[in-house]
Amino acid sequence: MRFTLNGTDVEIDVHPMRRLLDVLREDCGLTGTKEGCGEGECGACTVLVDGEAVVSCLVPFTQVEGRSVETIEGAQAQALQRAFMDHIGAQCGICTPGMILAAMSLGADPTRKQMQEALAGNLCRCTGYEAIFRAIRAAKRASRTDAQRAPA
Ligand code: FES
Ligand code: FES
Repeated sequence: MRFTLNGTDVEIDVHPMRRLLDVLREDCGLTGTKEGCGEGECGACTVLVDGEAVVSCLVPFTQVEGRSVETIEGAQAQALQRAFMDHIGAQCGICTPGMILAAMSLGADPTRKQMQEALAGNLCRCTGYEAIFRAIRAAKRASRTDAQRAPA
C-alpha cells in the first residue's frame, strides 16, 4: 500500500485494517504521534490527512492509501513548537504533538472561540489551556511578523 508521509512517497506492507497510529509508530518509527485513550476521545494521536486533523487511533490504514499524512516530525510547525516551549504550553508533553497539529488549522489571528473549537477534541491534563492559548497566539503573531518581513 502506498501513501505520502511527511512529503515522501512510502510503500508499506501492512494489514489494511491496522490502525494508522500503529503504522506510524511501529512500522514507520515515528513515535512523535502519541497514544492516549486509544478510543478517539483525547486527541493525543492527532495527525493531518490531506491537511485535515484526524485522530489516527480511529483510522484504519486503508483509509489513507494514496493520501498525504503529516505527523509532528514533518509538520512545518517550528513557530508553534517554539511558542509551546516559551509559554510553558507543555508539561508532560503527551498532548503536545496533537495540540500543535490541531492548531495548524487556525488562521493568522485566531479568536479565543476559534482556538477553543480547534482544540475541542484535544485534552490536556497538566498544563491548562490558558498557557496553550498564549502559545498559539504568540506563534501566530510570530508567523504574521515573519510573513510581513519576507521580501515580496
Ligand atoms: S489516542 Fe487517539 S484520540 Fe486518544
Ligand atoms: S502537557 Fe501533559 S497532558 Fe498536556
